[in-house]
Amino acid sequence: MNGEKPEEHGLEQIIKEIVSLQNLDEIKEEIERNAKFFPKEAYLVEKILQSNGIERAKYYLERLMDSVTTVKTNGVNDINLNRWMDYDYILTDSLWNFEKRDRSGNHLGWYWGNFVPQIPRQLILRYTKKNDWVLDPFMGSGTTLIECKIQGRNGVGVDLNQDIVTKAKERIDSQKSSEDVKIIVECADSTSSDFAKLIDESDFTGFQLAILHPPYHDIIKFSGNNLDLSNTPHTESFIASLRKVIMNSKRVLRPNGILAIVIGDKYSASKLEPLGFLAMNAATDEGMILKSIVVKNYDATRGKRNQENLWRYRSLVGGFYIFKHEYIFIFQNSKSKRIRNK
Ligand SMILES: C[S@@+](CC[C@H](N)C(=O)[O-])C[C@H]1O[C@@H](n2cnc3c(N)ncnc32)[C@H](O)[C@@H]1O
Repeated sequence: MNGEKPEEHGLEQIIKEIVSLQNLDEIKEEIERNAKFFPKEAYLVEKILQSNGIERAKYYLERLMDSVTTVKTNGVNDINLNRWMDYDYILTDSLWNFEKRDRSGNHLGWYWGNFVPQIPRQLILRYTKKNDWVLDPFMGSGTTLIECKIQGRNGVGVDLNQDIVTKAKERIDSQKSSEDVKIIVECADSTSSDFAKLIDESDFTGFQLAILHPPYHDIIKFSGNNLDLSNTPHTESFIASLRKVIMNSKRVLRPNGILAIVIGDKYSASKLEPLGFLAMNAATDEGMILKSIVVKNYDATRGKRNQENLWRYRSLVGGFYIFKHEYIFIFQNSKSKRIRNK
C-alpha cells in the first residue's frame, strides 16, 4: 500500500490487506490512511474507525468490500445499491427543478410543446433496465426515444401527426447508441392502437415503462386532425380520450410496469381546469396504483416570458396564480397477467 491512487480493482486489494491484519489499532490506522480512496463509503470508513472490537471492524470491512465489488439491484433498474452514493444525479425527491433544458446528444428542443429530456431520463434510469421496452404514445419530437438510445433501452413511439413523425424519426435515427437497441416509430392514433402489435420480437414480454405526455387539452393545437387530443371539444372529452390511451398503454405494460403521465393544468373562462388531477383519477379508475406525484418547475416559452408583466397584471386582476409547475404522476400496473404479442 504505497498511498498512490489505486486502480478500480486495486481497492479490493487494499481492503483484502487490511482484513488480513490481526490488530484493531493497525486496522484503524490503515483504513484512516486509505480513507481518501473511499469517499463514497465515508460512512463505512467511519464505522470501522469507531469499532470497539476487531470483529465489528471486520464486519464493516466486509460491507466495504461488498460496496466495491458486488452489484446489488432492486430488480427493476440497473442502480447498484451497494454504490448508491454514486447516483447523486438520480432524483428521489418529489420536487423537480431543472434550471435549463439538457441539449446533449440529439436533444434540440425544436418542437413546441416538447418536454425536457431530463424527464424521460429520470424515469428510464429509475424504472427500467438496459434493453427493457419503453412506450411513448404521444411521441412528438421523439425526446423519449432519443433518450432510450442514449440509455440503451428499446422504444416504441406513436404520434398522430405524420410530419412530426417523419422529422422525429430522422433525429432519433441519427442519435448514436452504445447498445444494440430497437426503436419503432409509428404514425397512428393512440386512442385505438394495439402497441404490442408494433413489436415483432418473439421474446417481448411487455413494456416496462410507458411515458404519456399528452397535449394539455387545447393549450397548444398540434394538428387539424379531430382525433388529436388537442382538438377535443371540452375537458370531459379530452379526459375520455386520454383515458383510452391510458387503457391501451396499461394493456401492454408488464405486470409491475410503470406508467407516468406528464401534464399541466389549464386556466380558461376564469376557471382552473385541473387536468392533472383529472388525468390522475382516470388512471386510478383504470386500476393503476399511484406511486408518486412529482411537481416539476414549468419553464415558460420565450413568448410568455416576454409577456411576464402582462401575465402578472392579469393575475392581479383575475385572482389566479400563474402556472409555474406541471405534474408527473407515476403509477404502477396492478395486473398479474403477462403480455405476449405472439
Ligand atoms: C405534448 S406533445 C408531446 C411532446 C413530446 N413529449 C416531445 O418531447 O416532443 C403531444 C403530442 O401528442 C400528439 N397526439 C395528440 N393526439 C394524439 C393521438 N390521438 N394519438 C397519437 N398522438 C397524439 C400530438 O401530435 C403531439 O405531438
